[in-house]
Amino acid sequence: MAAALTTGLEHVLPLGSRLNARGALEVGGCDVTELARELGTPAYVYSEDDIRARARAYREAFAARTERFEIVYASKAAPITAVYRLMADEGLSCDVASGGELHLALAGGFSPDRLYLHGNNKTEAELGFAVQRGVGTIVVDSFDEVDRLQRLAPGQRVMLRVTPGIKPETHEKIATGQEDSKFGFGLDDVPRAIEACTDAGLELCGLHAHIGSQIYELSVFERLAEVLGGMGDYPLLNLGGGLGIAYTAEDHPPSVNDYADALLTRVPEGVTVLCEPGRSLVGNAGVTIYTVGTVKRIPGVRTYVAVDGGMSDNLRPMLYAARYEAEIADRFGGGDLCTVAGMHCESGDILIRDTELDDPRPGDVLVVPATGAYGHAMANNYNAIPRPPVILCREGEARVVVRRETYDDLTLRDA
Ligand code: LLP
Repeated sequence: MAAALTTGLEHVLPLGSRLNARGALEVGGCDVTELARELGTPAYVYSEDDIRARARAYREAFAARTERFEIVYASKAAPITAVYRLMADEGLSCDVASGGELHLALAGGFSPDRLYLHGNNKTEAELGFAVQRGVGTIVVDSFDEVDRLQRLAPGQRVMLRVTPGIKPETHEKIATGQEDSKFGFGLDDVPRAIEACTDAGLELCGLHAHIGSQIYELSVFERLAEVLGGMGDYPLLNLGGGLGIAYTAEDHPPSVNDYADALLTRVPEGVTVLCEPGRSLVGNAGVTIYTVGTVKRIPGVRTYVAVDGGMSDNLRPMLYAARYEAEIADRFGGGDLCTVAGMHCESGDILIRDTELDDPRPGDVLVVPATGAYGHAMANNYNAIPRPPVILCREGEARVVVRRETYDDLTLRDA
């Protein structure tokens, strides 16, 4: 018999997660300790139904408020072919931030006309690839790019990326709306940029802004809608992504409904609003499972619980001081204060500074929730550690959709 979770992590773990009769976590109906045994660790484990439910929740929240909207999956959060396929299947459009993401989106079955290509420095090769594949909209980021598009993509449908001078409360590395940003056109440059697009023969259909990521404050989104809405008559306004998610039990982000309200209340009549969520579609859908290898107790100082991954599969703690929680996958709860360390050759390879675990021992499976966004996406091969697989779970069936890297993969590109 499966028990509902009563750990305070209900809103952090994938929807439908449970502790089964053995007390082990099930994601998408799959016991993660069994997945660890069968498929190894570390691994990214997602609930497919969670991803679908969040895509639907976005569509429903907007549909309840307006007929004119488009939900665009910001695929940098989880650029996984199978996830692109789910998002396309759920009727979303897609934001790609590079030629590589464009390649994945097409492999995942997105129709090119539903794609938006972003980037502050798209290369000629990327622009050429986008044009050749018929990408619907290119989001123009600079005057240099206007020149490039005039040559490479005459008549291309474009939106203009605006830096609206709004600084949300979030980590400075993921704030993008402030004037001092490498992205987009500052407010003073917008009129000239519009003129440049028109002169270049590009079809300018609207404005775009993305003010940052992992944001809880809704007032900044209202302000954003007001600023962009006041900049002229455009049929389309893309208000970016940025809604924050819960990483720890204490985190309580706003709901998608409240976010939709904030985006839509100040938008002028008749405008189609595009919303570009990444993290809030996939972040809580995924967990990472690891195996504990060593437990080092330094009396009076700290207990280090080292796992078989670390900064190669989750860079967020190191880059943004991001906080996570962990549990022993089949012994939730417990009060031993521990530091979860990775296996990499540097002291900064700490996944979680302080978390309470139940008597961790070598061989335990450790689960870190809320790693579905920007985990796999920013994975790397530091120390030549092969990258983990991605596993999608649904109704007790597990599907490996990205296989684990092998040592042979590490020498594959040797030339
Ligand atoms: N649209 C644009 C143009 C973006 O640049 C981004 C994120 C999004 C949408 C989606 O934002 P989201 O809904 O996921 O917040 N690596 C960082 C996050 C960087 C986000 C970059 N742009 C992290 O791990 O927190």
